[in-house]
Amino acid sequence: MNNMDNIISQFIGNAKAEDISPIGNGHINSTFLVKTPHSKYVLQKINTSVFPDVDALMSNIDKVTHHIQKKVKECGKNPSRATLNFLTAPNGKKYICYEGNYYRMYDFIDGTFTIEKMDNPVNFYYSGKAFGEFANFFTDFDASLLVETIKDFHNTPKRFKDFEQAIDENRKGRVAYVCDEIEFVKSRRDFMPLFTDKLAGNALPLRVTHNDTKLNNILFDEKTNMPVTVIDLDTVMPGSYLYDFGDAIRFGATHAAEDEKDLSLVDFDLDLYRSFAKGYIEESGNSLTDEEINMLPYASIMLTLECGMRFLTDHLNGDTYFRISRQGHNLDRARTQFKLVSEMENNVENMKEIIDELVGR
Ligand SMILES: Nc1ncnc2c1ncn2[C@@H]1O[C@H](COP(=O)(O)OP(=O)(O)O)[C@@H](O)[C@H]1O
Ligand SMILES: [Mg+2]
Repeated sequence: MNNMDNIISQFIGNAKAEDISPIGNGHINSTFLVKTPHSKYVLQKINTSVFPDVDALMSNIDKVTHHIQKKVKECGKNPSRATLNFLTAPNGKKYICYEGNYYRMYDFIDGTFTIEKMDNPVNFYYSGKAFGEFANFFTDFDASLLVETIKDFHNTPKRFKDFEQAIDENRKGRVAYVCDEIEFVKSRRDFMPLFTDKLAGNALPLRVTHNDTKLNNILFDEKTNMPVTVIDLDTVMPGSYLYDFGDAIRFGATHAAEDEKDLSLVDFDLDLYRSFAKGYIEESGNSLTDEEINMLPYASIMLTLECGMRFLTDHLNGDTYFRISRQGHNLDRARTQFKLVSEMENNVENMKEIIDELVGR
């Protein structure tokens, strides 16, 4: 028996793995498709440098997947494709530690595909539906039961403090030639506590947040092309629906790559915005509070500003967090985000109109 077989047998006993092959283009975990004569599974090695507290990580996922299964059963639907189904190991947990590495296994959902690149509004509409449905599952779930596995993930004012520290330290002597970008961020500092203040004062409810609302984290059905379920639940944490909505728009409502050098190509496409928002609101509509709806037009601005600020912080710190493949890569990324922020700010009234129309007010 080799190592792989040893690991797999902990989850599926004597069932023989006929084939083990890498799948997907995920950047965080190593993912494999495991085929036995009767079933298919996904085996993942957990990236513990990103998620050091595996027990907290898996306890979040366990709570969230159980809740989805419960909700789906309540509506009389088949829960097997509604969410990820993790296998229990002999230790009673949904993961094992083997030679210092952590592994988990879950059912492969057959007859599905993922989309890597957002290339049309229809996909984005369905993406909105998938994440809107995800939000809707948790209307009656106490998000404080989840552990904040990455602390202050979307605490924008805290991110701003880190940014100020990077300027003060000026480790690589880069401050002098990014003055315009620094000023761009600083002039928006009063906006940054908008969501965190409202969360602290309970004007916004604490919510189950997916925190990685990318298109390639949705499984689509091969026959109907409709979303089947949201995957990649590692970053599920307590937070706000505004984070998921805003980050999906940041990533998807533009035609430019995140690191595009030619800023004239960085656009904010209101039709794409409408597509995602329509899908999201159709599925989550009744579960959003009035204040959440009021804040939706600002969500993408906040998340894009925060993301750009993090890229700029990393550029100032000497590129220690985001992997770079060229000189100034993080600065290019920061610039695309700031261009997007400006475009979004210019369109805030249009976004409000779209949201009001979609919620029917
Ligand atoms: N249950 C599943 N059924 C079918 N395919 C899956 C399943 N889970 C993951 N995949 C495939 O594996 C890829 C990577 O998985 P993901 O959980 O997103 O890991 P990462 O954290 O590396 O992004 C997905 O994009 C998808 O193609
Ligand atoms: Mg993924």
